[in-house]
Amino acid sequence: MIGGVALLIVAVVGLVAWAVGHYTNNTVTVGTQTETSSTQVVDPKVAAGAHVFVQFACSQCHGLQGRGGVSPDVPALTGVGKQLTAAQLAGIINHGLGESANPTKPYMPVWGAVVSKRQVGELAAYIRAGLPSVTDATPLPVPQGQGDEVAGAALYVRDGCINCHGPNGLGGVPNPLSEDKAIPPLAGADFRGEFNTDAKIKEIIRSGSVIGRAPIVSMPHWGGILTDEELRQLVAYIKTFK
Ligand code: HEC
Ligand code: HEC
Repeated sequence: MIGGVALLIVAVVGLVAWAVGHYTNNTVTVGTQTETSSTQVVDPKVAAGAHVFVQFACSQCHGLQGRGGVSPDVPALTGVGKQLTAAQLAGIINHGLGESANPTKPYMPVWGAVVSKRQVGELAAYIRAGLPSVTDATPLPVPQGQGDEVAGAALYVRDGCINCHGPNGLGGVPNPLSEDKAIPPLAGADFRGEFNTDAKIKEIIRSGSVIGRAPIVSMPHWGGILTDEELRQLVAYIKTFK
């Protein structure tokens, strides 16, 4: 008899717990629509595009999810998905736009030699899907209060320098139609000889260099995008290379 009551209590408690859980789940879905939709199943191609968008630092110039607000010279991308076809977007990503020798103005870099056809397709799919929020597609955080070298190492990844100049600044990413046939290293005797002061390194990061038209990849202009402090931190990190 006592055993029977205990069993009934367990059953009732279980039922209540299930009902509460069920009810709470429903409430969460309604209450935090945006949070839930970001964790819902996303088309894998769109999700990949969101991660590629962060990896190649598109988000550092165009803002998180392409919302703009970084620089008046860089447009938001929230509207272009409806205006441009996947082929038009691929053309802009591969060949760049507004290539400029003006060091105070950023331009859309040429990505064709660096980003694969598949990645370009994923970027276009993400932009055409309206640049939705995708869980974990967020730029690397920059450690604070741990010195310039540590911050610079994070910036080197966050701002996508690593995609073109390689890990540890070893260079070698093919740039077939450029004179050097590859994107230069930021390490080694030749680099140290030419860029022998902090000011010279800062200046090339800020002003970039237009070495030719697409499909040649040039050094993007980061003036107006990176702050003086971030430039100093990147220089501190670059100087740790072999
Ligand atoms: C160094 C800053 C910078 C980075 C990094 C960058 N862009 Fe851009 N992008 C620009 C600027 C500046 C323009 C505007 C060029 C113009 O209109 O002259 C632009 C234009 C565009 C356009 C055309 C927008 C329109 O309204 O026609 C697209 C699409 C685009 N970028 C996508 C990307 C993608 C995808 C990436 C990452 C692979 C990326 N951008 C990385 C600076 C940047
Ligand atoms: C889209 C590819 C690309 C990205 C991204 C990129 N660079 Fe470059 N960078 C180049 C190319 C190409 C050159 C060579 C320019 C030339 O020869 O005039 C270059 C040159 C340089 C140089 C001078 C080295 C030399 O020998 O000419 C420095 C320093 C440099 N980049 C730092 C950076 C930093 C720091 C970042 C990230 C904020 C960065 N780059 C992002 C392509 C890139």
